[in-house]
This record gives sequence, C-alpha cells and structure tokens, in this order.
Amino acid sequence: MSMFDPAAFLSTLKSAVNAFQLRQVEAAIPKVPLRAEHVANCRLLLNRQALLHELPTRSVCAEIGVDQGDFTDAILRVAQPSQLHLVDTWGSRRYNETKFEQVRNRFARELQSGTVVIHRKLSLEAVSDFEDACFDWIYLDTTHAYELTAQELRAYAAKIKPGGLMCGHDYSMGNWIKAYRYGVIEAVHEFCVTDGWELVYLTLEPIECQSFSIRRIAAPVRAS
Ligand SMILES: C[S@@+](CC[C@H](N)C(=O)[O-])C[C@H]1O[C@@H](n2cnc3c(N)ncnc32)[C@H](O)[C@@H]1O
Repeated sequence: MSMFDPAAFLSTLKSAVNAFQLRQVEAAIPKVPLRAEHVANCRLLLNRQALLHELPTRSVCAEIGVDQGDFTDAILRVAQPSQLHLVDTWGSRRYNETKFEQVRNRFARELQSGTVVIHRKLSLEAVSDFEDACFDWIYLDTTHAYELTAQELRAYAAKIKPGGLMCGHDYSMGNWIKAYRYGVIEAVHEFCVTDGWELVYLTLEPIECQSFSIRRIAAPVRAS
C-alpha cells in the first residue's frame, strides 16, 4: 500500500498552480500575425551594437529604461546624438537611487552640456515632456511586458519624426530560466498591423536580448 507523501503532494500542487498561472499570462497576450508588407524591408543584424551603427548620427533620440547607463554609454559613443533623453524612474529595489546617482556621475559632462537630459518619470508620464515629431529614434527597454510595451508604442509613435524609428530591447518570448514571459514580440506585431508600421531591423543575439526597430510604412504616392 502506498503511503501519502505530503512533500510530493505539495510539489505537485505547486507545479499545477505555476502551470495554471503561466497559461493565464499566455492567454492574455494577443497574437496578431504580420503580413508580407510588415517584413518586406527588414534586415537582420548581429546585435544591438550593429543596430547603433545603422542609426543616424547627430540625431535627437531617447532611451526609455536606462538602468546604470551601459547602453547609454554605447549610444553616446556610436550614434553620437545631438541630444539624448533618458527616461527612467529608478524607483524599484533593483533599479534604485544608487543606479540613478551612477548615471548622473557617469554622464556628468553630457548633462552639463545638455547633450543628455534626464526625465525621472514613468515612461508613459514622460511622453508629455516631448513635442510631437521631435525624435529621430527612440529605444524602449522598460519591463518588456505586453501591456506596457503596447502602451509605450502607441504613446511614443506621435513623437517620432516622419521616417524615424522606434526601436527596443527584448524582442523575445521571455526568460526561460525565470519562467518570465515578455510580450514585446506580440506588442510590436500588433502595433505594426493596427498602426501601419514595418520591421526594419531585427538583431540576432543568441539569448533573450534581441532588439527590434520599426518605422511607419510610407503612404503610397497617388497618381495625379
Ligand atoms: C532592463 S533595464 C534597462 C537597461 C538599459 N536600457 C541597458 O540596456 O543597459 C530596465 C529599466 O527600466 C526602468 N523601468 C521599468 N519600468 C519603467 C517605467 N514604467 N517607466 C520608466 N522606467 C521604467 C527600470 O527602472 C530599469 O532601470
């Protein structure tokens, strides 16, 4: 006769709850298929450093989600923007005051000259700091969750100049080890279909950190 094993029972229960939660998260993420026109002009790049080399220099741009400024540093070195806006709350246990101070010290010279401007705000609150069509490109890198990414894409679209780019990090399903689902792919595809944007660059890093870049599909020229 088999004995009841409470530890095994608890472990099975925990696995069942986890699986249920994962299915709920999955069900809440819409899957909108792209059409051919959304990928017709898309180029693959090795990594996001290569992406930075494709972006225009002397541009006005923004990094939304900064952490301790490692990618900020790369942007400044490679893309050499005329102005780079940094948007971040630095308001969580992981991304905290210490990181904010690191960024302020690291880019003290650029802050002093006005090349770098900090907006210590939620991404969706910072949108109103910017004029419409003021950015050549932006790079989104906050939570990578479907809902926030979808809102950020919609909110920042009006701030991009004609022909400008909306880029972002973590264009992947998520972090397998931590069982953490991202929603960037789905938010980007949905936005391309509903708002008429196309993929221009995708990067091919071997782990979960791929980047995307999209722009408005040019309106067809009408014959007069
Ligand atoms: C993954 S880190 C950014 C990494 C950085 N872009 C890099 O490549 O080095 C995410 C950052 O987004 C910020 N963040 C998360 N949610 C945010 C929100 N809703 N608005 C503004 N910043 C946010 C966090 O404080 C954190 O610093």
